[in-house]
Amino acid sequence: MTDTTRQAALENFVRGLPKAELHIHIEGSLEPELIFELAQRNGITLSYPSVDALRAAYAFTDLQSFLDIYYAGASVLLAEQDFFDMAMAYFRRAHADNVVHAELFFDPQTHTERGVAMGTVINGLARAQEQARTELGVESGLILCFLRHLSEQDALDTLEQARPYLDRIVGVGLDSSEVGHPPEKFARVFAKARELGLRLVAHAGEEGPPEYVWSALDVLKVERIDHGVQSIRDPRLLDRLVTTRMPLTVCPLSNIKLCVFKHLSEHNLADMLRMGVCVTINSDDPAYFGGYMNQNFVATVNALDLSAAEAKQLAANSFEASFITPEQRAGYMARLNQYSQNLGA
Ligand code: HPA
Ligand code: ZN
Repeated sequence: MTDTTRQAALENFVRGLPKAELHIHIEGSLEPELIFELAQRNGITLSYPSVDALRAAYAFTDLQSFLDIYYAGASVLLAEQDFFDMAMAYFRRAHADNVVHAELFFDPQTHTERGVAMGTVINGLARAQEQARTELGVESGLILCFLRHLSEQDALDTLEQARPYLDRIVGVGLDSSEVGHPPEKFARVFAKARELGLRLVAHAGEEGPPEYVWSALDVLKVERIDHGVQSIRDPRLLDRLVTTRMPLTVCPLSNIKLCVFKHLSEHNLADMLRMGVCVTINSDDPAYFGGYMNQNFVATVNALDLSAAEAKQLAANSFEASFITPEQRAGYMARLNQYSQNLGA
């Protein structure tokens, strides 16, 4: 085989891997075309004259510069059908990338503070989940994220508003502006969510220091860390992540767009994978960061020179880290092993 055909074969293998996506903000899957369509449907005037002008504004320098435009984009979502259309568009893209299970973050406070009811958001997303299951065979869960730039009381009120819908939610998370809003600010609301039987995750160590990863683990008692790439600066923390198989939901293209790393070739995902950290690949906000799952997988495999076995390990890690039953996990792992055996990897 020539180098080019070997490369093409590896890319094909990576694209076809059955995989789980565990770090996708559903509002971050809103493509500019759909933003404009929903704005028109809802009689909202956007501050950008065209799809191209909006897309041209997607040049970010850090997390906050992205969040400002991301919250503006989400302001076109009003009716249950809008949430359904957004989620269904994501599920179709995910299915095309062989995502068989997805855990979707959603930010209710972005909507409830504009007068959209919690039920409108959750019912729209839940209807899309049902259709994705029956039509595409994609299974999914919902994770309610608290916005960390708002108060803990606001998060407690949000959890209370979600009480009638808890059977539709698998867990809670923590997102938005990280630096200056450490995990411990949300100790009480996470304890409450835990009492209610919800699974716990939090963004930590995207831009914030390793100390935020420690407090997400020890104070919030999370079961996965979202991003977590700054953990590499603390050998004791890395040791803990390895020995406990604590998953990190890493988002390589997001990290480049938000300037966490300058080039993908400088990303620490391969180092952490080889140390035995349970790292996974995810798209974060694919409409804003230039790629869905397979674009993240292929770009990372190429930039970091990952082998087919390492790509398969990343897919296996995604099922290990999923909030699913042992039976579901065994089913996905069998499917993954079957797939790679057929391709001789
Ligand atoms: N980090 C923090 N908050 C977010 C992100 C992110 O990458 N995407 C959407 N909200
Ligand atoms: Zn995120």
